[in-house]
Amino acid sequence: MRAKRRVVTATGRPAGASRTPSMRRVRPGIVTPQPRVRVEARPATPLPSQPPATIDLTVDLGRGLVLPNPILVASGTFGYGIEYGEVVEVDRLGAICCKGTTLKARIGNPTPRVTETPGGMLNSIGLQNPGVDAVIEKYAGTWAGWKVPVIVNVAGESVSDYVEVTRRLEGVPGIAGIELNISCPNVGRGGLQFAIDAGAAGEVTAAVRRATDLPLLVKLSPNVADIRPIARAIADAGADALTAINTLSGIAVAPDRRRPLLGNIYGGLSGPAVKPVALRVVYEASQAVKIPVIAIGGVTELADVLDFLAVGAVAVQVGTAIFADPTLPVRLVDELTAECRRVGVASHRDLIGSALPKKAGTPSAKGVEYRP
Ligand SMILES: Cc1cc2nc3c(=O)[nH]c(=O)nc-3n(C[C@H](O)[C@H](O)[C@H](O)COP(=O)(O)O)c2cc1C
Repeated sequence: MRAKRRVVTATGRPAGASRTPSMRRVRPGIVTPQPRVRVEARPATPLPSQPPATIDLTVDLGRGLVLPNPILVASGTFGYGIEYGEVVEVDRLGAICCKGTTLKARIGNPTPRVTETPGGMLNSIGLQNPGVDAVIEKYAGTWAGWKVPVIVNVAGESVSDYVEVTRRLEGVPGIAGIELNISCPNVGRGGLQFAIDAGAAGEVTAAVRRATDLPLLVKLSPNVADIRPIARAIADAGADALTAINTLSGIAVAPDRRRPLLGNIYGGLSGPAVKPVALRVVYEASQAVKIPVIAIGGVTELADVLDFLAVGAVAVQVGTAIFADPTLPVRLVDELTAECRRVGVASHRDLIGSALPKKAGTPSAKGVEYRP
């Protein structure tokens, strides 16, 4: 039977359909990307005669951390969760990855810090945060009363920074796990980012692992030539899961063309523009390691979630799209449940890895993936 073809926009709306409430601008300067027309081939899936009675969306990340579902919110795009309590049913999320947290308070980078790009945004917030002690004091009490697991995103400028922040989080009620943002300059090593060197990534992971029994997630940077040795080094150092990807390094030029636009010159690109890169990284990392991989990068609709599951992700994080529609992640939980019923699987786990090479041991694409 031939696949049905339908014309949809990049956000999943039929071409020509009017802007939905979810596409409204909710913050000046940050909108969803311009819809672009693409032709999507949708294979006709035979519907099950008897849809499963219950759908199990749980995700076991090890060390006792079982997420209620695979839709998380990404660090830096959902604050500390508390800010969204009035508009989002936070307890229906799979987990909240809170804003990047450092040992001491940081005021962040000079402005401007954010600009729109085709299909995404560039940000250079610079890890503005009140420091780990203030985060614990202000937020952990509220988190402890929530059902949703809160994973604290940790950043630092040295291995000892990461270890000390982690020590302070250890044993605090309301903190379910740690996600290491290793896309930070290692000041002691000439500012080389931990995430772009397998040795440095493994070293910081191992040091944090020794300091905590909390579930430990480590976030990969896409700004590397080959993700696989880095993913393996992190897994070998004792991480419980990988998250991928952080933003892609980029710059924008000021309207007068006399200088770069962002106060920090460099920013991180996020949004739908980065999804193909994220898919490639998840595809490669999920074959390189045995620990679970959580995908991040340009999720705006259910089709994105299904794509990431297909290349081996056990769960996804929603980031930039939250600025346009904070209710999107909870809606995706409902849509994923409905999709499992529609295709007749009892769990989203049955959808994981369907686009990975079938033969065990087959290299992801025989070495060099990009051959224009
Ligand atoms: C404004 C902003 C702030 C961010 N802050 C952090 C952060 O503090 N720590 C971190 O690991 N990632 C941070 N990120 C990266 C996101 O968590 C995510 O990895 C990235 O944006 C890709 O996902 P997306 O395309 O869905 O946004 C930030 C992203 C944005 C847009």
